[in-house]
This record gives sequence, structure tokens and C-alpha cells, in this order.
Amino acid sequence: MTAKKSLFSMFGIGDAKDGRVFPVHQPGRNTPREIPWYRFKAEILRPILLWDQGIGSKNLYLPGPTAAGKTSLVEQVLARTGKQVFKVGCHKRIEMADFLGRLTIKKDGSTEFVYGALPLAMKLGGVLLMDESDQLSPTTAMGLVPILDGGSVYIPETGEWIDPHPDFRVAATGNTAGRGDESGLYRGAERQNVAWLTRFIFVKVDYLSVDEEVELLHHIAPELPEDISRAMAKTASEVRKVFVGASLDGELETVISTRDLLQWAQLTVAYSGVSDCDPIMEGLNLAVLNSSPQHEVDAIRGIWQRITGEE
Ligand SMILES: Nc1ncnc2c1ncn2[C@@H]1O[C@H](COP(=O)(O)OP(=O)(O)OP(=O)(O)O)[C@@H](O)[C@H]1O
Ligand SMILES: [Mg+2]
Repeated sequence: MTAKKSLFSMFGIGDAKDGRVFPVHQPGRNTPREIPWYRFKAEILRPILLWDQGIGSKNLYLPGPTAAGKTSLVEQVLARTGKQVFKVGCHKRIEMADFLGRLTIKKDGSTEFVYGALPLAMKLGGVLLMDESDQLSPTTAMGLVPILDGGSVYIPETGEWIDPHPDFRVAATGNTAGRGDESGLYRGAERQNVAWLTRFIFVKVDYLSVDEEVELLHHIAPELPEDISRAMAKTASEVRKVFVGASLDGELETVISTRDLLQWAQLTVAYSGVSDCDPIMEGLNLAVLNSSPQHEVDAIRGIWQRITGEE
């Protein structure tokens, strides 16, 4: 640990007079790169900073709808605290051995054990980020329980026990909160063992507000006039209200996520010089509508027309 910085200077939360400071680590090879205009919400950041300090639990679970900003939130917090992240994209076939690492054969024919994400994060005091953790088989998830409880890990290939560095933390993301998927949108999401779930604190991540997304669009696509970016953000917000992922009696299986919105804006700018095309509609088609059934395409275009008609 090398320094302390104010919450305001790190996250843009509160004001410059806020005296609260936060420990900052020496960045390493796996410390994420900072996105300077990343937007933090105070109520979400608070429990995440407690997790970073090991207060309450050393294991954090971020559930939330697709592309709301779960993975990037962990990465952007770590970009500012200097910690390293070791990310594993989870799926059903991952086993404990995949977290630990593997034996490789060197040029001279000898073998070498290459550490996987778990021992690296444990040794270096980094974060094991289990992305899409609800896709893990419950059996594999349960194999990680001793680690969630602060235990050491054994590497059979080397006969080595690795103890957790005091700064080691576990973060998990998922479109579901690990209790199965009721919406039918998130194929493969497993219902996890309750004993696994109780070891985490849960911080729900939802989409940004219209004003926040307009600000984001200003950074991503500064060429876009503000009335257009506001209409785009409002359309995304309206679509999310009728998204099945938000409420089971919702009407649309299509959503305009933050990722889609940023793509829509960038494509609109890219198409703006092209003749014979409506750049906004072309961008919307490419980012979202070309994968949607026709009745949802019509509904979303209708929302856009209503919003732009109101302006
Ligand atoms: N608060 C934010 N500030 C700036 N950019 C954001 C914010 N939230 C999300 N984004 C951007 O939106 C995109 C999607 O974010 P991210 O990949 O973190 O979502 P996710 O919830 O992990 O998605 P998935 O469900 O697909 O795993 C990224 O380009 C990210 O930079
Ligand atoms: Mg993600």
C-alpha cells in the first residue's frame, strides 16, 4: 500500500472538501486501465469500498441486467485503487483445475506449472473476478467455498499450499442473483446452492439514468448533438421499462443496454456522412434491431418516433 487518495479525486463522488481518504495500491500488470469519465453511483460504490476493505464480507456479487455495467464497475474501481484483477469467464464446463492453472511443456521438454487466476489473485492480493458466475455448475461453485471462507488453496501438481494475501478479494457478476432465471432471457444461468450465495454480499447494478447516459454519450460520441443523444437515452430508458428482464409482465425481449446505446451513438456518427441513409436508424438497426423479431422492431421504432415527436 503506497498512498491514500480522497474519494472525490478517485471516483468523482461527493465534493472536493470531503475529507474521506481511501488506500491506493501500487498498480501491477493486471491493474485495469482507467476510463476517466466512468460514472460511479454513491450508493453502489459505498458497499463496494467496504468489500475492498474486507468489512462485512470479502466476497462481492453484482447481479444486474445485461450490459448495465457490472464487469466494468469492478474493473473501474480497481483501476482507481490500483489492485490487480484476474478475470475468469464462467461457464458450465469450468472446473476447479481451470481456476488453479495447468502444467505446460517447455521447449527443453521439461514441465512447468503455470498459475491460473485463483492462485495469482491470492498470491498478489488481487481480485478473482468470476464473470457470469451464475453460469458455473453448482458443483464447481461449491468447490470454491473454502476460498470464499478465507482458506488456502492446494495445487496438486506442485504440492504447494497457497495462502490468501490479506488484500485478496473475490468478485462475481451475473445477470441473475444465482437463484435461477425466471425471465427466460439468460440461458444457462444455474440455480446455485444457497450455501454458496450466503457467502457474498449482493450489490444490485442497474442501468444509469437518462441524464447520466447523456453525459456518457457526450464522451463517447462528442459529435452527436445533445438533443439527439437525449432522445436516444430516453428511448433506451423507455424500452427498459417494458423489457421482460425488468418485469416478468414486460412486453419486449429486446433491450437497449448501455452497451447498445454507446454502439448506436458511435454508429450514428460514423454513418452521418453517408448518402441515402438515415444514420440514426442505421445505427439503431445495427446495434439493436437487426436481431429482434419484427413486432419488437416496430414497437421500438414507435417509442423513438414518439420521443422525437415530443421534442
Ligand atoms: N457507469 C458507467 N460509466 C461509463 N460507462 C459505462 C457505465 N456502465 C456501463 N458502461 C459501459 O457500458 C458497457 C457495458 O458495460 P459492462 O460490460 O460492464 O456491462 P455488464 O453488466 O458486465 O454486461 P454483461 O451483462 O454483458 O456482462 C461498457 O462499454 C461500459 O464501459
Ligand atoms: Mg459483464
